[in-house]
Amino acid sequence: MTHSDHPSPLEARCSGPLTGKARVPGDKSISHRALILGALSVGKTRISGLLEGEDVLNTAKSMRALGAEVDRTGDFAWVVQGVGVSGFAEPQNPLDFGNSGTGCRLVMGAVAGCPITAVFDGDASLRSRPMRRVLDPLELMGAKTRSSGEGGRLPLTLAGARDPVPITYRTPVASAQIKSAVLLAGLSAPGVTTVIEQEASRDHTELMLKHFGAEIVSSKEGAHGRKIALTGQPELHGADVVVPADPSSAAFPIVAALIVEGSDIILPDVMTNPLRTGLFATLREMGALLEETEVRGDAGEPMAQIRARASKLRGVEVPPERAPSMIDEYLVLAVAAAFAEGTTIMRGLHELRVKESDRLAATAAMLRVNGVSVEISGDDLVVEGRGHVPGGGLVATHMDHRIAMSALVMGLASDKPVKVDDTAFIATSFPDFIPMMRALGAELS
Ligand code: S3P
Repeated sequence: MTHSDHPSPLEARCSGPLTGKARVPGDKSISHRALILGALSVGKTRISGLLEGEDVLNTAKSMRALGAEVDRTGDFAWVVQGVGVSGFAEPQNPLDFGNSGTGCRLVMGAVAGCPITAVFDGDASLRSRPMRRVLDPLELMGAKTRSSGEGGRLPLTLAGARDPVPITYRTPVASAQIKSAVLLAGLSAPGVTTVIEQEASRDHTELMLKHFGAEIVSSKEGAHGRKIALTGQPELHGADVVVPADPSSAAFPIVAALIVEGSDIILPDVMTNPLRTGLFATLREMGALLEETEVRGDAGEPMAQIRARASKLRGVEVPPERAPSMIDEYLVLAVAAAFAEGTTIMRGLHELRVKESDRLAATAAMLRVNGVSVEISGDDLVVEGRGHVPGGGLVATHMDHRIAMSALVMGLASDKPVKVDDTAFIATSFPDFIPMMRALGAELS
């Protein structure tokens, strides 16, 4: 299956200026982590601004199934009553993570340190994604896994370690999910669990662990890497978490505003952690009018109000070491690149092949079917920007929310409308995307 049971197609047409202020939903990475760390803490965790998208709601359900109390107390307001480190109870039924690699892999780490057995499963997209990368270090720590899918794929059974072993682990690819899984398992291990990454990936797990009372030290490793050392068996205490707006979701209205003539939009409280803002840096290099004001921070996570205005963009070269800080944004960057003048070369995109879909192939297909000249060369993507996009294509979304949103953004400024075959998966990360874009002036029907 490559789409939902009842696909909902949608068309985006050339729109008048996008204007106004819009609040994009809470950050997905932080929302997953707030629920998981809340569940592994003693006492109450109050979360405001939680992303109420399907991915995060599946993590909330899995925390309940593992014994935590998780309640919605108002709009985007949730309270978690945790069970403490290593305190998960064995779930009665398989844990279903739907479309979410993050929820699934982080919870695998958290379960790996508890003496319980759980079955992990997900939708067709998640069942096709590699899990070995997480199972390898968790097995070194003492977990036992049995998978009925090829190469450790879902569905799989994970038996957590009775006596987890702290390890020093070099991640084979820059992945916050692998790093976080090891650290979450390391919470239950005696002594220090260390993760070394050659390229620094998003550090929300480290920042939030500190916020909940863990002893965790992060230091530089080589030119772009980090070494993270966590002291195991801490007592984590419930904490308040304010979830900032998700920069990966903000990326869609921002690029839309840059390419639709006359646009001028404002997005408040967008997280600006430097390990997440590679897209903003790249867009600025392309000539984007992007301003950050009202800069502030909460629990180590910086945020700012972002103003984006219609801009004349030019092609640029994006270096491979920037990939971890914008790994989810290449699809929508490729849209901006198609509207720019000149060639944009995005280097080192191998990880895009193992996301919710093969995003390298999907990006090229999305552009090609809309008349944009694009080439995949090894792990690089080369987009020929001609200042305008012919459009007129039907884009296959492959159960991938970011393909659907990127294609719709493209249609707002292309010569002919752009149609997507299924918008259902947008609800995994940005449930109000369509009404929010319409309120800004987008022609979507
Ligand atoms: C995420 C990490 C990234 C990213 C994903 C969210 C996280 O995946 O693509 O959307 O919250 O840790 P990888 O760690 O596999 O690169």
